[in-house]
Amino acid sequence: MIEGPVSEESTPAERTAREHTLSEERIADRGRYADGRSRQITVADDDGSLLLVIEPITAGALEWHPGALASDDPIRLSRFAYLRRDGADIVLGTPRSRVTGVIRDERVAAFIAGLGVARRPSSLADRCGLAPDACLRLADALHAVQLVTGPEPDCEEDETIPQTWEFHDLLFHERTRRPRTGSINEAPRFGIVPEPHEPEWQVRPGELELPRIDVAAVVTQDAPYGRVMRERISTRDFTGPELPLDRLAELLARSLGPIEREGVPGVTAEHMWTRPYASAGALYETDVVVVAHRVTGLAQGAYLYRPGAHALRPLEGSAASVDRLLFDASQACGAGIHRPQALLVLAARFPDLAIKYDGIAYSLILKNAGWIQATIQGAASAMGLGAVPLGAGDEASFAEATGLDRYRQGSVGEIAISVPI
Ligand SMILES: Cc1cc2nc3c(=O)[nH]c(=O)nc-3n(C[C@H](O)[C@H](O)[C@H](O)COP(=O)(O)O)c2cc1C
Repeated sequence: MIEGPVSEESTPAERTAREHTLSEERIADRGRYADGRSRQITVADDDGSLLLVIEPITAGALEWHPGALASDDPIRLSRFAYLRRDGADIVLGTPRSRVTGVIRDERVAAFIAGLGVARRPSSLADRCGLAPDACLRLADALHAVQLVTGPEPDCEEDETIPQTWEFHDLLFHERTRRPRTGSINEAPRFGIVPEPHEPEWQVRPGELELPRIDVAAVVTQDAPYGRVMRERISTRDFTGPELPLDRLAELLARSLGPIEREGVPGVTAEHMWTRPYASAGALYETDVVVVAHRVTGLAQGAYLYRPGAHALRPLEGSAASVDRLLFDASQACGAGIHRPQALLVLAARFPDLAIKYDGIAYSLILKNAGWIQATIQGAASAMGLGAVPLGAGDEASFAEATGLDRYRQGSVGEIAISVPI
């Protein structure tokens, strides 16, 4: 049924049985999956021309459960299905299975467009221009990879997947737990050369060199780590005094400054320098941009912190957007008109991680952001400063405030810093 035209005599049960046999043969024959083409499952029109090609998107076996749909049962497009362009192809996808459906005939798109409501596949024949039998084959294939769902009111999808799963959350969750290729890619992808791991130590012209901090010496005066953790608390009162520049410098140096790791087992020449926080692949793709509001000696604005040089690079952007970032932070904290003394925005250089991690890069960036927020809040707590991590930020305002290209370096999290009264 799935590979080509079906004889007029075949019943739905026969078709289903044949479908099962075909898929079992294919799934049993792992060797054939390795060569790409043979892993495809095709749906053809009565004349044999291709309508839809279904392919796995991972190195694993094709997720394919044909025959579960009784012939001409009403179906409806899954609330998780999407349509997009991939190269020259128009593809259908869903986080419910790790396959992609490549549309080879535009009548398939018309068929799908009719599935906003539950309909019997054969009833779509007139609307899309396919023969009723081809509609049945299409319905069965789409159902087998969960691009369409079964009949209402027993809509299996709504019963199986709680309403709390929004489309983008499920897609993100399902697609970013494991790499697409099934393993971490060691070769750089997309031909992008990563930033060097070695921090850049030089202060460049136009940058503001921050007061030097001997972090190793300063932290000997801290309360023990366990006590700092127990006393850590989110602070949302921004009415205190200005944040002195040397306190900001210390916070940045403590939480982000490179640490020499010579002689540590497992540390390679490439990774002689680490940071106080863990980071996937030791790529340290996320920078901190200081959005200063009331910092002594620092004009309100956005500054990129360069940890190696321990310097701030002023960023050129819209002053209104700088204020917008500060205002949004005060709103997120219920702080009314009081903006935080400084907002530290975590700005990820997206390509630097994506060149290594196939398919899971963005999720790793968010995990790394959590580490950085926690490290900064811990350091602030040890220093007696206030800090509150923020979950919602405006990446468009950030791009305007900094002049950074949002697709190369964008905001993925914030932490507001304050000085207690
Ligand atoms: C990812 C994340 C996002 C957060 N977003 C906000 C926020 O937008 N506004 C806010 O006031 N607090 C925010 N917080 C702080 C939490 O509300 C706070 O950690 C929680 O209430 C526990 O309190 P504690 O940090 O004082 O222990 C966030 C915390 C995390 C980890």
